[in-house]
Amino acid sequence: MDRIEEFLQERKNSGLFRSLRAVSYRREGKICLNGNEYFDFSSNDYLGFSQHPGLKEAARKATEELGTSSSGSRLLSGDLNIHHQLENRTAEFKCKEAALIFNSGYQANVGIISSLCRKDDVIFSDRLNHASIIDGIILSQAKFFRFNHNDLNHLESLLKKERHKFKKSLIITETIFSMDGDRPSLKEIVSLKEKYNSMIMVDEAHATGIFGENGSGVVEEENLTGNIDLIMGTFSKALGSFGAYLACSNRVKEYLINICRSFIYSTALPPSVIAANLVSLDLVRDEPFRRKTLLENANYLRQELQKHGFRVKGTSQIIPLIIGDSQKAIKLSENLKKNGYYVLPIRPPTVPAGEARLRFSLTWQHSKNILEKLVDDICRIYDI
Ligand SMILES: Cc1ncc(COP(=O)(O)O)c(C=O)c1O
Repeated sequence: MDRIEEFLQERKNSGLFRSLRAVSYRREGKICLNGNEYFDFSSNDYLGFSQHPGLKEAARKATEELGTSSSGSRLLSGDLNIHHQLENRTAEFKCKEAALIFNSGYQANVGIISSLCRKDDVIFSDRLNHASIIDGIILSQAKFFRFNHNDLNHLESLLKKERHKFKKSLIITETIFSMDGDRPSLKEIVSLKEKYNSMIMVDEAHATGIFGENGSGVVEEENLTGNIDLIMGTFSKALGSFGAYLACSNRVKEYLINICRSFIYSTALPPSVIAANLVSLDLVRDEPFRRKTLLENANYLRQELQKHGFRVKGTSQIIPLIIGDSQKAIKLSENLKKNGYYVLPIRPPTVPAGEARLRFSLTWQHSKNILEKLVDDICRIYDI
């Protein structure tokens, strides 16, 4: 057997083989697969912007005026006025001096971290940080330590023991964790960053558009904008479009434009995407009722599940229902599908052993009525 076959066989034997499932359409909190429509608890389109007429119209207009492609990387000839407009608008949204647009959240994390840290530096990263953060760390060649999820005693013990051995230090955390839907004690991490002369980078992929008075994220909500050096986030989740940003200082922006390989060596995002991103930032400002409804409904679902004796986690629009056993989680997901709900089981190794779960990812279109019926159905079929 060659290596590829061996790998595929092993995946199949262990039940971890993955394949693609084509979606026919997704709209208004529903998804269509193989001709069947389900309530969709699997998307990141938290505010329903991906189907918003304003974003669609802006994308259409930009394509009409500027074409379908940027036709070059930013440093060559792909740098359009509209990219600068979005960067200025994003810096304003995040209340930072500057912003730099990346082609995706993955490219942002890989590029930013590997550009800012080197071999003689050290990185402290929450154990549940996203794969793109881990890949950026590996590429940087810095020494790195993973602290237990949201465990600041563990982080401090690592900082105490290791920080002084290295030149620069960077602490990285998400502000809403994608699998647990919870958040870190950001104020305490900021104190540790100051105490141990470190930089801090946060990933607001799942917080952008949802948290804070202006919807810019958890950093805004906790009034920590001035204390966080690097605020990364995406346009691909609540903002209903594509691409990512880093909000930072002018100096860091200039440095990244000159060194960051995932920024330099890739065609700039097309005008349609940039135009849609601009509209999504306006909508976050103008339509706060979407995020308010979303968070109210998420709290409702969490409370109802708890009331019925289920174990749930988090404080956000992402609600993990902890089942424990992988096969049980798969079976519940299948039974919910038969009842008209699409919710994905998440199993080890993506989550720790014994923590298999269903991950409910809500959108603002999932009304209390829909969620009430969902809880009834979960209770009814839980032990089938
Ligand atoms: C926390 C986090 N960071 C980064 C990314 C990557 O973003 P994108 O999908 O825009 O590449 C994701 C997406 O799954 C994420 O959950």
